[in-house]
Amino acid sequence: MTPINTEESPREQAVLSCQALNKTYTEGPQKVQVLANINFEIFSGDRLAIIGSSGSGKTTLLNMLGGLDLPTSGSVKLAGKDYAQLNQKQRGQLRNQHLGFVYQFHHLLAEFSALENAAMPLLIAGKSMKQAKAQALELLKKVNMEKRAEHKPAELSGGERQRVALARALVTNPSCVLLDEPTGNLDQQTAAQVQALIRELAENSGTAFVIVTHDIELAEQQNRVLRLDQGQLLAV
Ligand SMILES: Nc1ncnc2c1ncn2[C@@H]1O[C@H](COP(=O)(O)OP(=O)(O)O)[C@@H](O)[C@H]1O
Ligand SMILES: [Mg+2]
Repeated sequence: MTPINTEESPREQAVLSCQALNKTYTEGPQKVQVLANINFEIFSGDRLAIIGSSGSGKTTLLNMLGGLDLPTSGSVKLAGKDYAQLNQKQRGQLRNQHLGFVYQFHHLLAEFSALENAAMPLLIAGKSMKQAKAQALELLKKVNMEKRAEHKPAELSGGERQRVALARALVTNPSCVLLDEPTGNLDQQTAAQVQALIRELAENSGTAFVIVTHDIELAEQQNRVLRLDQGQLLAV
């Protein structure tokens, strides 16, 4: 007799999950609800774009996903752990372990070379300088920047800085990368090149990508698009 497996196969754990997420900013007597009852999950390999007009709350949502700011109510969990249950140091460690970040403005450290910038998350995680630099060089190769490894950010173009920022975001092999308007500060041609690179990196890694953007072309390259509108996250 063939044994019947009655157990459901265990569902993969979400990398990130939001439950009943609300965010209200208080400015004196004024209260502004930016996010209203947001529920969604991100799984390994997902490529999600979140679009929305300026001021719709995209950066606010990304900051909640990254644990950089806490919700007014509801929960955000990274790898099953609720940010609100952790202290700041624990949040920092969890973030370093599981996430990478790319911003509109590269946020590279001016005093450090491209290689040192890309190595930084590994140094923070406690790797030796030698190992961190070796891994960072591998990532710089992936973004086609190894020839500029010793250059400082001021010596690089906008597109090159974003390449280094992508290398830094991916150097720890994170579960998820959060990108806030990654092409927002680039001219059209450079934006298209960075777009293509993001696509290639996303397709060749198990890392989930969550991209907040008003660049429709970049959004359409992802396999799921959601729109923030009046605090709600809607299917497109
Ligand atoms: N720290 C803050 N304090 C008060 N209001 C804020 C703060 N950050 C953002 N806001 C407000 O929240 C809304 C959403 O902002 P934001 O998340 O930056 O939007 P987006 O990234 O989509 O342009 C805006 O109305 C903005 O003015
Ligand atoms: Mg923003």
